[in-house]
Amino acid sequence: MRVIRSPGAVSAWSRALHREGVIIGMVPTMGALHEGHRALIRAARLSCDAVVVSLFVNPTQFGPREDFSRYPRRLQADAALCRQEGVDLLFTPTAAAMYPRGFQTAVTVHRVAQRWEGALRPGHFAGVATVVTKLLALVRPEILFFGQKDFQQVAVVRRLVNDLNLETVVRMCATVREPDGIALSSRNEFLTPTQRRAAPVLYAALQAGRTAIRGGVRSAGRVLQIMRARVAQEPLAEVEYLAVCDPATLEPLRRLTGNAVLLGGIRVGSIRLIDNVLVRGQPGGAPEA
Ligand code: PAJ
Repeated sequence: MRVIRSPGAVSAWSRALHREGVIIGMVPTMGALHEGHRALIRAARLSCDAVVVSLFVNPTQFGPREDFSRYPRRLQADAALCRQEGVDLLFTPTAAAMYPRGFQTAVTVHRVAQRWEGALRPGHFAGVATVVTKLLALVRPEILFFGQKDFQQVAVVRRLVNDLNLETVVRMCATVREPDGIALSSRNEFLTPTQRRAAPVLYAALQAGRTAIRGGVRSAGRVLQIMRARVAQEPLAEVEYLAVCDPATLEPLRRLTGNAVLLGGIRVGSIRLIDNVLVRGQPGGAPEA
């Protein structure tokens, strides 16, 4: 496995591979790799000739009161995981190389980036969209791999790739979970044991919503009530948002007819947790419960 820090060297590497017709898959990450990241790397390994993992704790996507400085950094362990999974190139640029003196460009995605996470984290998706655009320009992967865990991030990147005619396919891979249902996240390690026991309530609430829809509930308002009631059973959890949305636009739905995504963000103590579940369309489903 090659480890490259310089953006210019990554461009050259990619150019040489493309000349030989190699299909490049890319997994953008901020490191502190866990089984969720590993699943993305494996998916890339299965369908691409060469796999690039980028590891960059991107300062522009963190708000002033967010956890940029205490975001876990463990390059050695991350490099070992990548080597084990047969990654070809680990790209670990510095912030100074990605945002050199004089940098003054940002990529802003509008509506789909403004709701939910975007409303709670102003500037977050502009930071994500800008860094993803830069990574795409440097690596020019045929396929870009993202986790469903950050569903809105995938929707924003899809919009960006379409709107700017970027030539890459965005592939979304299933969320990897602990046995109790909580989605793996590097932020889980900040939870105290008591908070950790409370955290699965978010996925439980989303599942309760999905079960209701599968059982015939068609009113989004009713589904929201069911999800809110489930979170309320856990005194340590505070809802930031729960939503029943169109999976492409993330606009809220009033009635469930086609596909939907149930999105949730909660706070357990000072830790923010997000999750989501997809619900496939229910043509001719059972009548309203
Ligand atoms: P990071 O949080 O490191 O996540 C990197 C990728 O791993 C994202 O696509 C994320 O959705 C995926 N991922 C995280 N937890 C997962 C889980 N439990 N199951 C499946 N996939 C999971 O997301 C970012 O970094 C950054 O915003 C980035 C895209 C790298 C831009 O800086």
